[in-house]
Amino acid sequence: MNVLITGGAGFIGSNLVHYLHDHRPDWKITVVDALTYAGNLHNISSLVDAGKVTFVKCDISDAESVHALFEKDQFEMVFHLAAESHVDRSIHSASEFVRTNVLGTQNLLDASLAVGVKRFMHISTDEVYGSLGATGKFTELTPLDPTSPYAASKASSDLLVEAFHKTHGLDTIITRCTNNYGPYQFPEKFIPLFISNAMEDKSLPLYGDGMNVRSWLYVTDHCDALLLLSEQGESGQAYNIGGDDDAEIPNKVVAEAICSALDKPSALIQLVTDRLAHDRRYAVDFSKIHQAVGWEPSVPFEDGLLRTIAWYQENRSWWEEIKSGDYRDYYERHYSGR
Ligand code: NAD
Ligand code: TYD
Repeated sequence: MNVLITGGAGFIGSNLVHYLHDHRPDWKITVVDALTYAGNLHNISSLVDAGKVTFVKCDISDAESVHALFEKDQFEMVFHLAAESHVDRSIHSASEFVRTNVLGTQNLLDASLAVGVKRFMHISTDEVYGSLGATGKFTELTPLDPTSPYAASKASSDLLVEAFHKTHGLDTIITRCTNNYGPYQFPEKFIPLFISNAMEDKSLPLYGDGMNVRSWLYVTDHCDALLLLSEQGESGQAYNIGGDDDAEIPNKVVAEAICSALDKPSALIQLVTDRLAHDRRYAVDFSKIHQAVGWEPSVPFEDGLLRTIAWYQENRSWWEEIKSGDYRDYYERHYSGR
């Protein structure tokens, strides 16, 4: 199988590159990534340097480059993960989100149609469904009702994918996963930010009352679901992917678990001004993917969190380099005065 992974130098993308290389060693894997602030070639350099994965630096919003690449390489399957992915940044400015997430997706769909891609895996998010109250879960039939500009751009890309399936018969699958965590996650996101700040004895900025709830999935469980769906999922369908009931946890409890695992005082946790329009709770019903391909989460949150903390301890230079670069300016701008 000749496979393209977009966004393969980012968090989930780089985990997927390693996962597919391990589980489908005969697949020919090409990674396309623009190496934005969130992309880091180091995440996949062991495979690229060994000639096992091909890396192409390319911005998916550049239609000409995308078409030229597809014409040259004639991919059979696309795993589309490239995106602007951080809600807070989309609140500061939405234009990059529309450019990459909407226009970039359209370019990939056009190019996939042009060369006859056999399956287009569109990696989306449960955030397209909006916010839940204290009870209930998102199903695939829940109407799209995004809150943040990030979620709105992902919902737009989902609709484009559906339209290419209905109009042109392109073989597509949309996946909507809950919050991921694990190695290589950029330290602007909640769990790696709190782990790395705690390791540096810095305060942990918890938004609002700290009682927003997320459903957490260890990243390799997500990769497992994507591989199963790429081979056995039904064309034209959307599938929710997510943690089980035990992985639905208020942010404050996750923050306390991080402090406790690192033997740091929970006094490091500081309530700060809430995110605008902060979705209260996410949780998905994943019975559809379970019935279709037998998938379910395999890593309990407690284990996954300890594994993740261990990775950030063993790879301190990876995140220290990021946190001392341009990211420091973002951090100052975003958190000062909160
Ligand atoms: P990430 O921000 O860590 O990585 C995104 C990657 O896309 C980076 O390597 C970046 O360089 C690349 N990229 C950005 N703009 C690009 C462009 N114009 N052209 C080419 N490459 C570009 O994101 P992530 O957390 O790994 O998320 C990957 C995908 O999974 C996204 O589509 C996201 O919406 C989705 N998702 C993420 C989560 C989560 O919890 N992180 C949950 C569900 C779905
Ligand atoms: P995040 O990792 O940004 O993922 P998402 O917003 O896509 O769910 O945030 C996860 C949760 O953590 C969310 O409820 C917001 C909260 N949060 C904080 O409390 N403080 C922070 O500094 C960040 C980045 C997030």
